[in-house]
This record gives sequence, structure tokens and C-alpha cells, in this order.
Amino acid sequence: MTVTRFIVLVGLVTLATVIVFQIFISFDRYNAPKTFSSNGERIYFTGKSISGSSITSTGGDSHMGMHSDTRSGCARCHGNNREGGFVLTMFNFSVVPPPITPEALFRDQADIHSQDEHGDHGSYDDESLKLAIRQGIDPAGKRLDMAMPRWTMSDSDIDDLISYLRSQPNDKFDE
Ligand code: HEC
Repeated sequence: MTVTRFIVLVGLVTLATVIVFQIFISFDRYNAPKTFSSNGERIYFTGKSISGSSITSTGGDSHMGMHSDTRSGCARCHGNNREGGFVLTMFNFSVVPPPITPEALFRDQADIHSQDEHGDHGSYDDESLKLAIRQGIDPAGKRLDMAMPRWTMSDSDIDDLISYLRSQPNDKFDE
């Protein structure tokens, strides 16, 4: 095989990989709502506050398209129903964000987290949840992987987000 042919082959394989990756991404749990019943819900899905105050994040193994308008919130990784799961990403290739349903966050976590590494700390309260969201530190004092972004948002926005996280996911995405 000549060098040129080899280079063309590598090029084609790379192109095919990128295309397959993009197809996966387009199927990837992408049916976020267009209207929101609370500011917390809006932040969860879009990473934007209704008040227009700034919400930014650092870290996060970003997914192609994650920074577009409708894909910048928590739902991108933790899922529309906060079920967690599996997300394709740019650098680690994939990450497994844990569920962040009210049961997973505010009750005894061991059972729910038997499939991931998050059963080793007690349940969250508002303060420890703020610490996890803002600084990536869990209730056991462990640093969360940088795949979980560190978020900067106002006190009222984080309060709204936490009251949304305390509410049950509605089932509008179950179909
Ligand atoms: C880019 C993907 C991504 C986004 C976006 C994201 N997370 Fe995470 N999150 C993760 C990953 C991955 C972990 C697990 C980190 C680890 O294993 O240490 C995590 C962990 C957490 C935890 C800790 C759960 C536990 O059991 O200790 C909380 C709480 C959390 N995320 C809340 C949020 C909230 C709220 C938002 C939106 C403001 C958000 N996350 C956005 C990827 C993400």
C-alpha cells in the first residue's frame, strides 16, 4: 500500500467515525421542552436563568453541541428525567453521570447508586448540594470528577434549581 493510499484510508476512517459520532449525538436524548414551568426547570434544561443573570460553568467534559442554547443545562448529562446514564463526550469518549432524582440526592443513596460510585456519601441537603454544584465537592468531601462542570450562578438561581431538583421529575418525557 502506498503512503498516499494509507493517508486517504486514514482520512476516510476518521471521517466515518466523526459522522457516526454525530449521528449518535443527534439521537442522544434530545427532546428538551420548549417552555418551562419554573426558573429551576429552565436552568436544568438550558443553563439559562429566566432573569437573564449569568450562569457559567467550567470543566465538564464537553460534548459536541453542549454549548449551544438548548443543550447547556444539566439535562444534557443527567437526562431529561434526571435518571443519569451514559453520555458521549469529546475527551473521555463517555462519562456516566449519576442519577440526580430526589430519591438519589435526598434519601439514603446506597441502593440507587449500586451501579455507580456515588453510594459512599450521605444524602444531600441544600447546602451540600450547592457545594457540589458550585465547587464539585460531595457530602463526604470527595472531589467530583471534572466531567461534572463547576457552576457559577446567583443565590436565587441556585435556590430555584434546588427546589426543582427536590420536585419529582414529571413524566412528560416518558414516551
Ligand atoms: C458535562 C456533563 C454534566 C453536566 C452538564 C452536569 N453534570 Fe452533574 N455530574 C456529571 C458527572 C460525570 C458526575 C459524576 C462525577 C463523578 O463521578 O465524580 C456528576 C455529578 C453530579 C452530582 C453529584 C451526585 C452525587 O451522587 O454525588 C450532582 C449533585 C450534579 N452532578 C448536579 C448537576 C447539576 C445540578 C447540573 C446542572 C447545573 C449538572 N450536574 C450538570 C456530569 C455533568
